[in-house]
Amino acid sequence: MYSEKVMDHFRNPRNMGEIPEADGIGTVGNPVCGDMMTVYIKVKDNRIDDIKFKTFGCGAAIATSSMVTELAKGKTLEEAEKIGRSDVADSLGGLPKVKMHCSNLAADALHAAIEDYEKHKGTKR
Ligand code: FES
Repeated sequence: MYSEKVMDHFRNPRNMGEIPEADGIGTVGNPVCGDMMTVYIKVKDNRIDDIKFKTFGCGAAIATSSMVTELAKGKTLEEAEKIGRSDVADSLGGLPKVKMHCSNLAADALHAAIEDYEKHKGTKR
């Protein structure tokens, strides 16, 4: 049912955890399954210098969170904003149809973290 890549990111998630003094934090949830995902970013010179995630969810949610952090790390904010829902699933070699909503969560959480950063830019938290 799952590609090797999905299983790899599920078993060995990259960038899992929290960034204590994050510049942007995005939390999104899926009301249907109840899964939740938070993405933390550190921004330096308009680039995502560090990124971590915390996910309470299914295996696909964990694999897609892990993948989205890998895709976004080192990218400019503009590039990271363009990472779409299907990019995450494609990079994992596809996801079963019933699991596509899980990858939506990952891209949405990344975008929410960037939005949060833009909102608080120049202000102290
Ligand atoms: Fe809810 Fe996967 S089943 S995110």
